[in-house]
Amino acid sequence: MKISVIVAVSENDVIGKDGHLPWRLSQDLKRFKAITTGHHIVLGRKNYEDIGRPLPNRVNLVLSRNANFEAPGCVVVPSLEQAFEIARKSGEEELFIIGGAHVYECAMPMATKLYLTRVHANIDGDVKMPSFGDGWKLVKEEHFGKSEKDEFETTFQILERSL
Ligand SMILES: NC(=O)c1ccc[n+]([C@@H]2O[C@H](COP(=O)([O-])OP(=O)(O)OC[C@H]3O[C@@H](n4cnc5c(N)ncnc54)[C@H](OP(=O)(O)O)[C@@H]3O)[C@@H](O)[C@H]2O)c1
Repeated sequence: MKISVIVAVSENDVIGKDGHLPWRLSQDLKRFKAITTGHHIVLGRKNYEDIGRPLPNRVNLVLSRNANFEAPGCVVVPSLEQAFEIARKSGEEELFIIGGAHVYECAMPMATKLYLTRVHANIDGDVKMPSFGDGWKLVKEEHFGKSEKDEFETTFQILERSL
């Protein structure tokens, strides 16, 4: 099973502010939906609380060490290993790590595919993307301009590596 990371990162490595995404990027959200639909996704408890509901047509595996935490319509798991086990057992071929920063930090060393949106702006935020690690090779790149529904210019990249 391939472990993939999907994230949008500003020029100064910001990914979040006050528990939310710090931008409005409609095209990026549409692409996120298209890429992750039909798959198992792994998200942190704080990211889940920001989204506020399970993302439809995906198996939502919410990480929390709090055994009493409830996320209706999701599966709450206490460790990444258990999340991977659930996905593997149901025959998943590509599992997506969808953040936030704590989850990226734990999962990044195991990821071999990265769907990265570079947001061309310096953003005032309080959550930063941890290091991607070494060995990534760019396999696809596409530039997108600003629009009414897209606050900043972005570059979408796909990178791969072997561990
Ligand atoms: N730009 C992007 O692409 C993007 C994507 C996703 C999120 N975000 C942003 O990121 C921010 C949230 O990130 P965050 O780092 O504060 O929080 P987070 O990673 O979403 O959630 C952290 C919580 O998840 C649980 N957790 C994380 N790793 C775990 C592990 N290995 N095992 C068990 N439980 C684990 C813990 O929950 P308990 O405390 O319940 O134990 C931890 O307190 C928000 O601002 C959000 O909008 C941005």
